[in-house]
Amino acid sequence: MNRVRTAVLPAAGLGTRFLPATKSVPKELLPLLDRPVIDYIVAEAVEAGIERIVLITSRGKDALADFFDRSPSLEAHLRSAGKLALLERVLEVCSRTEVVTIRQQQTLGLGHAVGCAQAAVGGEPFAVMLGDEVIFNESPALGHLLAVHQTMPPSHAVVALMEVAQEQTGRYGICAGEWLDETRMQVAAMVEKPRPEEAPSRQAIVGRYVLPPDIFDVLAQTPPGAGGEIQLTDALAVLAGQGRVIGTRFPGIRHDTGHVLGMLRAAMFAAATRPDLQNEFAAVLAEVTALYGSGD
Ligand code: G1P
Repeated sequence: MNRVRTAVLPAAGLGTRFLPATKSVPKELLPLLDRPVIDYIVAEAVEAGIERIVLITSRGKDALADFFDRSPSLEAHLRSAGKLALLERVLEVCSRTEVVTIRQQQTLGLGHAVGCAQAAVGGEPFAVMLGDEVIFNESPALGHLLAVHQTMPPSHAVVALMEVAQEQTGRYGICAGEWLDETRMQVAAMVEKPRPEEAPSRQAIVGRYVLPPDIFDVLAQTPPGAGGEIQLTDALAVLAGQGRVIGTRFPGIRHDTGHVLGMLRAAMFAAATRPDLQNEFAAVLAEVTALYGSGD
């Protein structure tokens, strides 16, 4: 049995990098082909055996809760128009798992957003999946983290790691420690967004975590850190100091849809691997390449 049943999806950010599109549409609902970004993340969670999603939203993002809710008039329309395959897809969005929404009243950082889920999570280990990071793989990347967690005491945390270029360390939480084997690191130190010259390694945290419930107590004591925000990395650093954090490489290709080029890259990977689109997409790509070359 999965001992992790709940996944917290922080999705309260303003999405300023996508303005003006995000003036009225939450960035997590921007489409990656014909599905909102958040739908891929929820699908990954469900595939990994998660039974309940806790969405952390904020003012102006009610459309997120609507997306996961039933829509009787749309369903009736699709049914009477005989569009049954579409109806099935629309129904699947709200039937596959329970979705609870919590509003973060002030955007004080990722650590604060996760802290808002305390009452909904209760006293169990839980997963955190960042709302704009999509990982494409045949088996869910979160499932890999859960499998690693399953081999450890429930009081441990697991974070997903990816090697980044030295000059990119300032965009990520960075972990340093000792590799236990090919894929697992016993994390000794964690720093949020270090300057490249101060980064303790090039192992960056990406948006998948499994956390023990006492992280909430640590978060409550965590002062603002990088960028003046309450950082999840800073709370995890306390657990790392107690030998309770494992970093793990994960299978699949990770996309950061939080900026325009990352979203485009994700869409291209999605199109190139979707049977109903891949042939025509290859033709589009060839056309663009022939017209504009490599961009030189
Ligand atoms: C957050 C985390 C950071 C992590 C990153 C992954 O930063 O704080 O530790 O490496 O996500 O994308 P953000 O991108 O929200 O600034």
